[in-house]
Amino acid sequence: MTKLIASPKCAAGLLKAGKLVAFGTETVYGLGADACNGEAVAGIYTAKGRPSFNPLICHFADGETAFRYVTPTPLAEKLAQKFWPGPLTLVLNRAPDCPVSQLAGAGLPTLAVRVPDHPMALDLLREFGGPVAAPSANRSGRISPTTAAHVLAQLEGRIAAVLDSGPCAVGLESTILDLSGPSPVLLRPGGVSVEQLEAEIGPIARAEAVSHAPVAPGMLLSHYAPRLPVRLNAASVDEDEALLAFGPPLPGSALVFQLSEHKNLREAAARLFEALHWLDEEGQKLGAAGIAAQPIPAHGLGLAINDRLNRAAAPRD
Ligand code: TXA
Ligand code: MG
Repeated sequence: MTKLIASPKCAAGLLKAGKLVAFGTETVYGLGADACNGEAVAGIYTAKGRPSFNPLICHFADGETAFRYVTPTPLAEKLAQKFWPGPLTLVLNRAPDCPVSQLAGAGLPTLAVRVPDHPMALDLLREFGGPVAAPSANRSGRISPTTAAHVLAQLEGRIAAVLDSGPCAVGLESTILDLSGPSPVLLRPGGVSVEQLEAEIGPIARAEAVSHAPVAPGMLLSHYAPRLPVRLNAASVDEDEALLAFGPPLPGSALVFQLSEHKNLREAAARLFEALHWLDEEGQKLGAAGIAAQPIPAHGLGLAINDRLNRAAAPRD
């Protein structure tokens, strides 16, 4: 049973306990989880029925807290001053010691941060104290919810609670601006117009017009790709290969990362990006020929894990 609640404090308590809570913002309802808890973040994907891992936006009570988790630039500070709280998401490089789970950021070196303009969301975020990862609170492929009733219609029984925050004023997702590269790139138009942004910081390139644009939300996600080649559904492992294990590890490799000893998909999802980074780095140091991945079942979160592994194994340019 999903509870409809009215207390931001109670919602923060559920988040601290690793549960999923939907909450209203000025744009749309978000499906929140503790961004530093990989298994809670994995639960977001289960609840949404999302077949792949998109990076998630981290929500904060204020800019000062947000900027502890990323490396702010002068442009970011200027825009935050002007538009936060508000429907603007900034993509910046992660701070060196950033504790946000790799799954929340889909293994990327950047993190999307925003401060929503809604009193209940801000109460919740202040009470919680850290980053809350939240995609829109809809089932995958369905429309974004702008009332608590919309959320319940799609996610009843799949999440712990919905914080009833009334109807969303903007009703359209936040604008996403990438400030992690040499010049600003618009990744998604939204609640703050490009003209408003350009009035503050000058010309902004559109993602589709920039060849160096690393990432476009949703579609052209070029996630972190390991440098070592990846071999899927391995039934055996060569001694010069690193092993991504799921369940009892195949014998023969000296370099093993265990995703989940007891084949728990949620645990495996939470550890996936960390595993790929680690195997890639350590494997290269030891001169490994590649990474062999043991089979992962194609149901539930296994679909998203396999989607990511397929991309990691796809031929490179
Ligand atoms: O208004 C909003 O932004 C709402 C409310 C809940 O805050 N959230 C929202 O989240 O729309 P979602 O997950 O539906 O869309 C977030 C978009 C995704 O398309 C994702 O690819 C992009 O943000 N994104 C997140 N982190 C990113 C990153 N590090 N680099 C590039 N794009 C990123
Ligand atoms: Mg969405």
